[in-house]
Amino acid sequence: MQSPSRLHTSLAKTIASGDSVSPRPSGPPPRFIFKPTMDAPLIVDIRHPIGAGGLSVVYPARVLCSNRKLAVKHLKPELRGNQFAVQGFVREAKILDHLNRELARLYPGTDSNPRPIPQSYGLIELNGHLFSVLELLDGSDLTYHLPHLSTRETVALGIETLDALELIHALGVLHHDLKPSNVFLHGPGGHPKILDFGVSRFAQDREVPATIEGTPAYLAPERANCEPGSRLSDLYSFGVMLYEQITGRLPFIPTASEENAANLQLVSMHLHEPPAFASVYNPLLPDALVKLVSGLLAKNPNDRPATAAAVKRELEGILPEISQPD
Ligand SMILES: Nc1ncnc2c1ncn2[C@@H]1O[C@H](COP(=O)(O)OP(=O)(O)O)[C@@H](O)[C@H]1O
Ligand SMILES: [Mg+2]
Repeated sequence: MQSPSRLHTSLAKTIASGDSVSPRPSGPPPRFIFKPTMDAPLIVDIRHPIGAGGLSVVYPARVLCSNRKLAVKHLKPELRGNQFAVQGFVREAKILDHLNRELARLYPGTDSNPRPIPQSYGLIELNGHLFSVLELLDGSDLTYHLPHLSTRETVALGIETLDALELIHALGVLHHDLKPSNVFLHGPGGHPKILDFGVSRFAQDREVPATIEGTPAYLAPERANCEPGSRLSDLYSFGVMLYEQITGRLPFIPTASEENAANLQLVSMHLHEPPAFASVYNPLLPDALVKLVSGLLAKNPNDRPATAAAVKRELEGILPEISQPD
């Protein structure tokens, strides 16, 4: 089997050689083959997308003549002219590359399993289309699991997710779009991996965003206010996820039905409206959990717990209080 670094080189060569994407010559169903000079041609099965988000569609792929399975994330063609989308797609590849290099340095000799993110193999540009090549994760994202998780499972999963987030923060990256579809439960144990660094930033950048970036329902107030954001903004979004998981509803639900109006309403709610205590929707929750979620949703970042590790410790303290599945 090819080593990741070898594959990386092959794909980089493909970018350099400007190979084209060509549909298969014989009839449907079509699939893309990247060819011909690279030593590891990649076959992408465009018939069976495995996921999609605001920016991209994700397909399963495999390296020809090897069992290595991959995921190929394709920037939606209609977004090719959108500079924010393209910049985000390219920045995501850079951030994943940085994180994976640092993780390889920190955990030499381990495969991708202990990583908090998918392994990444670089970006390909072909005929004006952008593709990001990733490890194919095995499982599904949290949107699928959300309705089935008990409070105890949610807290246990939260603890693992915070480990992943703490590591990402320690490696100098702010995620800025934590939400259920960007947390993937991978492998037989369903261990969380954090996906989608499309609006992420290197913490040192302190760049003031030109627009509001992220997902309105999970957006920290300071980012709704177009400030650069910090680790504490990720903790707010984590708090929204936790609230959603333990109550079955988001803390803020807009009344407007038209998308832009609803998003504006959400921005205003994050900025100004206090969320109802989680216990209003789930009276069985332990007080400490209700208090922790309220703290994570504090409008002022300095009123939130200081780090992902601190939130993890609190959840670890709460877990024994939740003995029964609900
Ligand atoms: N490496 C992967 N392996 C398996 N599924 C993936 C992988 N990356 C993404 N997905 C699936 O595709 C969906 C969209 O990917 P994501 O990176 O979040 O794209 P977007 O930036 O468009 O939101 C995810 O919610 C997840 O379900
Ligand atoms: Mg996503």
